[in-house]
Amino acid sequence: MHTDPTDLRGPSRLERCPDLPDPLEFRDGTPVESTADWRDRRAEIRQLLRQHVYGYAPGAPETEMTTERTAGVCDGAATLVETEISFADLPPDAPSITLAVFLPSDAVEAGRSVPVLLGLNWGGNHAAVDDPAVTITETAREHGGREEGAAERGVAADYWCVEHVLSRGYGFATYQSADVDPDSGDPGEGIRPYYDDELPGPPGTEWGVLAAWAWGLQRCVDALRPMDSVRAEEIIVFGHSRCGKAALLAGATDERIGLVAPHQSGTGGMALNRDNDQEGIDDITGAFPGWFADTFAAFDGQVERLPVDQHCLAALVAPRPLIDTAGARDYWTNPGRALDAVRAAEPVWELLGAEGIADDLPLYGDDEIDPETVGSICHYRRETAHTLNEGYLDAVLDFADVHFDGAR
Ligand code: GCU
Repeated sequence: MHTDPTDLRGPSRLERCPDLPDPLEFRDGTPVESTADWRDRRAEIRQLLRQHVYGYAPGAPETEMTTERTAGVCDGAATLVETEISFADLPPDAPSITLAVFLPSDAVEAGRSVPVLLGLNWGGNHAAVDDPAVTITETAREHGGREEGAAERGVAADYWCVEHVLSRGYGFATYQSADVDPDSGDPGEGIRPYYDDELPGPPGTEWGVLAAWAWGLQRCVDALRPMDSVRAEEIIVFGHSRCGKAALLAGATDERIGLVAPHQSGTGGMALNRDNDQEGIDDITGAFPGWFADTFAAFDGQVERLPVDQHCLAALVAPRPLIDTAGARDYWTNPGRALDAVRAAEPVWELLGAEGIADDLPLYGDDEIDPETVGSICHYRRETAHTLNEGYLDAVLDFADVHFDGAR
C-alpha cells in the first residue's frame, strides 16, 4: 500500500452524495436494465449535459482539407502530415484548424497503420517538437501561450514527449485550442459566433468554449480516420487540464474515438461537482464564464439540483476504454472526486458487458497496468502537482496497448 500524503487518496466519499444521479436510472425513476435501455439513457444524459452544462454544439459541418507531407522530421523519427481543416459553410476569413500529425517513420516506410494519440494543445503545434517543418500558424503567433506572442519551437517537448510516443509505435496528432477559440473571454472571438444562430437549444444553452474545443477535436477525428497510416478505430483523445475537460467531452460524445484519456481535468472534467471542496461551480464559472453554457452557473449553491454529474459524462464513454490520470499533489483538480466519478460510472461498463475497474484503484506511479486486471475504466496517479510528463503518457499508452490490438 502507498502512504497517503493527503486526504485526496482516501476512501470513497460517494456516501456523502445521496443525491448523485444514478447513470442507470432514467430521470423518471425507471431503471436501465439492458443495452437498449442504455442507448436511451445515454441520449437523455447527452441532452441534460447540453442543456445544463456544456451547451449545444453544431453537428459535423462540411469540411475542406489541404494536406502537406514532410518526411524525416524529428531527426528522422517521423513523417509530418499537416492538414488544414476549413469549413465549407463559413466565409474564407473564418477560423480553420491546423492539425499536425506525426507518424512513426518505420511504420510509414513499412506501409503499416498505427494507433494515434490525439492531444489538444495550448501553445501551438510548433511548441510540441523542435523542428522547423512544423508551421507556426497565425493563431499561434497571436495566442501562442499564456503570454503574448508565439511560444518557441519545442518549448513543450518535455511535456508532449512526441518522440517517445512515436518510439512506442503510436502516432501523435495535435491542434491548438486557439484555432477554434482563443479563450480570451470574448464570446465574439473564435468559431462559435459563426454557428450560434443554428444551434437547436433555447437561449442560454449555446455552446461554451469547452464544447467548441471538443468539436474541434472531433473535426480532427474526421481528418484522421481516412488517413492510410492511421488505425481509424484506435484514436486516443487526450488533453491536460482545461484541454482534458474538452478531451473527455469529445471522447464521451463521439463513439468513433477508441479510447478516452483526460489528464488532470478537474472540475468540468472528471471531478464530481458534488461534495467538491476544491474548484466549485462558482469558482469556475466566475473565472471562466465562457467555458460552459450560461445555464451552468445557476447550479452554484444548489448542485444537488443538477440532474447529471461528471460520472454521467464519463459513462458515455462505455463500453470503450477510459483512463483518467491525476496528480496526487494536484489538489485543485481534486483527484479524490475524479476517482469517485470513476467508481460511480463503473456500473455502466458492467451493464454493457465490459470489465469495470481494477480491484485496487488508484493505480499509482510504477504500478503495472496489467492486462489481466486493469479493466476498461481506470484511474491512475503519479506523485506530481499539475503537470504532464512521460510517466503519465506511458500509463495511457500501456492502457491503450492492453485495449488495442497490439501488433505494432
Ligand atoms: C484553472 C482552472 C482549472 C483549469 C486550469 C487549466 O486553474 O481553474 O479548471 O483546469 O486553469 O486549464 O490550467
